[in-house]
Amino acid sequence: MTSQATKTAEQVFAELDAYRVLDAKQQPSWPDQAAASAASASLATQPPLVFAGEADQLRERLAAAAQGKAFLLQGGDCAETFDAATADKIRDRVKTMLQMAVVLTYGASMPVIKVGRMAGQFAKPRSSDTETREGVTLPAYRGDIVNGYDFTPESRTPNPERLVQGYHVSASTLNLIRAFTQGGFADLRQVHEWNKGFVSNPARSRYESLAAEIDRALKFMDACGVDHSALTQTEFYVSHEALLLDYERPLTRIDSRTGNLYDTSGHMLWIGERTRDIDGAHVEFLSHVQNPIGVKLGPTTKVDDALRLIDKLDPERTPGRLTFITRMGAGKIRDVLPGLLEGVRDAGATPLWVTDPMHGNGITTANGYKSRRFDDVMDELMGFFEAHRAVGTFPGGIHVELTGDDVTECLGGSENIDEEALENRYESLCDPRLNHMQSLELAFQVAQELKQTR
Ligand code: PEP
Ligand code: CO
Repeated sequence: MTSQATKTAEQVFAELDAYRVLDAKQQPSWPDQAAASAASASLATQPPLVFAGEADQLRERLAAAAQGKAFLLQGGDCAETFDAATADKIRDRVKTMLQMAVVLTYGASMPVIKVGRMAGQFAKPRSSDTETREGVTLPAYRGDIVNGYDFTPESRTPNPERLVQGYHVSASTLNLIRAFTQGGFADLRQVHEWNKGFVSNPARSRYESLAAEIDRALKFMDACGVDHSALTQTEFYVSHEALLLDYERPLTRIDSRTGNLYDTSGHMLWIGERTRDIDGAHVEFLSHVQNPIGVKLGPTTKVDDALRLIDKLDPERTPGRLTFITRMGAGKIRDVLPGLLEGVRDAGATPLWVTDPMHGNGITTANGYKSRRFDDVMDELMGFFEAHRAVGTFPGGIHVELTGDDVTECLGGSENIDEEALENRYESLCDPRLNHMQSLELAFQVAQELKQTR
């Protein structure tokens, strides 16, 4: 992360392009190469979606979390879709995140850093390159930024025009997020308003009581003459898996202040469990940009893997630069995580540790749905806090797949969603998400755990 100011732009980009000769997993093969080059050229002329200074500010916030002084809440869809980028759905996801953040901030008396899996979470890694239905084999769906979900040859053929469309949908999503979070909607005095419009449920009532307490505290501060201007806006950052290099590369730009590279497609980018090979293209690519970087770590991760990732992605140990997002599975986290935490701590590194309690807990139900049990998600969360308590490291955040909608995709929760209920409202094209109520329930639990950690 040294200053690149003495290098020419050509030299800086030549170093970045070292990734091109390495193995890049999970990339589509565009049938029309000329169209792919045209899409790339078009993206390269578009304005940045985020600014370098914003990414730096997020890095500072994450540094506080790595030191135990803040907590990261990262959440959103498994896969955003172009069709679902509507004002209502975006608003409800933002509202859900704001509600969860209030529950956590108030419950744990700790600043909460809000980062959406939003405005760019369009590309998905798949276990197979193809999908076969009734004897017909077509390319697998890789997310709206690559191909369509409909099972026809036209829709499933990777289409690079989708790269440009993905950029524009991200831009309009981000614009709305910025308007919501900076235009008064996120004012803490709106704490009751965020709860409106959702179906009534026990978590909502519990939230309502907490909102009433906050209201009273605000009125008290008003009466004392405290200036509330800091409460009128909130910081909200966006992130996605930096999977599709034909999207990330043209949006990577040199910051005119410092001469350094930033991937301007999002504030924070992460590398998935399937693409985190130390010698692969994704790790190489992201080692050259200054954004905060996350890496997913599954249950087979060895201490040495983590240390090599630290050396490659964060050689100068810049606070807030590197976040490890563990996704071990409820049955494995208590065995695997403590050793990893110890090994990294003993090597003198202090990455931010975050739990993704979703991706290690997938099941397929008897009636054929990809689902997750709310209890397993909670169990992995508990295991995460236990492991950190045992080792003496800080459990710095959660990474969850959620929606503000009242979907039925994950089993359980206090609504007791059962297998049959999955048929009512299962909308995800990819992994199952916590619905509004399950998200709030989870936030209350995490606040409880965090209180004990402090
Ligand atoms: C995801 O976050 O949607 C994902 C695919 O996760 P992982 O890389 O951890 O499997
Ligand atoms: Co997912």
